[in-house]
Amino acid sequence: MRSKIVTGNWKMNKTAAQTEALLAELSGKLPDTEAEVMVAPAFVNLTAAVRNLESSTIEVIAQNMHFAESGAYTGEISADMLLSIGIDTVIIGHSERRAYFGETDEILAKKVVAALEKNMRVMFCFGEELEDRKSDKHFSLVESQLKNALFSLDANSWGKIILAYEPVWAIGTGETASPEQAQEMHAFIRKTILEAYGTSIANSVSILYGGSVKPANAEEIFSKPDVDGGLIGGASLVSDDFIAIIKAI
Ligand code: 13P
Repeated sequence: MRSKIVTGNWKMNKTAAQTEALLAELSGKLPDTEAEVMVAPAFVNLTAAVRNLESSTIEVIAQNMHFAESGAYTGEISADMLLSIGIDTVIIGHSERRAYFGETDEILAKKVVAALEKNMRVMFCFGEELEDRKSDKHFSLVESQLKNALFSLDANSWGKIILAYEPVWAIGTGETASPEQAQEMHAFIRKTILEAYGTSIANSVSILYGGSVKPANAEEIFSKPDVDGGLIGGASLVSDDFIAIIKAI
């Protein structure tokens, strides 16, 4: 059985005090759930977040990392730095990193390898832009994003991979993929993995959906058989909304 996962990606939001307050609200209201619940605060707030959630089941994860071990990379964060504060899961490949920070499939492939070499879990994000979908290239684009960054991995590594399909046109726009569009793409992703790695890996990898998931649409999206949870942006910044989404799974 693959894990159900709900993750809040807080992006560049919340000061230290606001982070602490939101974490206190979330851990106070967290419902009983079989799903793994994760939050990804900004780098500067990670150490405090780990401490604040010491006695909670909510896992703190990072939004990004560099592929190098260490060195002259001003402004960057390494896997060892994350591990040293108790973080062993990292988001890699978010569309905002691709679009605004020039992260290519090649760079992302290096980041994935670097994280796996340190035995970290990778939440790998990918998804098409609106033009890709309009020109019916969304399946081939997603397939190439997966292949370029992940399909050189050996089969054993897949136990450490979580996938997050986030169509760029649905991120922060209020426009969600319909549950049917999400299911169609998730089934395609699973089939693509099956063809490369076989049934067992394809059936055990969790595939999250991200893009304007809200309390009002979460349950229907999560009810689809190949949707194993969500990567939530805006709605994860409001404790009642994020809790409602966790309840929906
Ligand atoms: P929104 O939920 O704000 O659309 O963001 C989704 C996302 O990018 C999560 O990583």
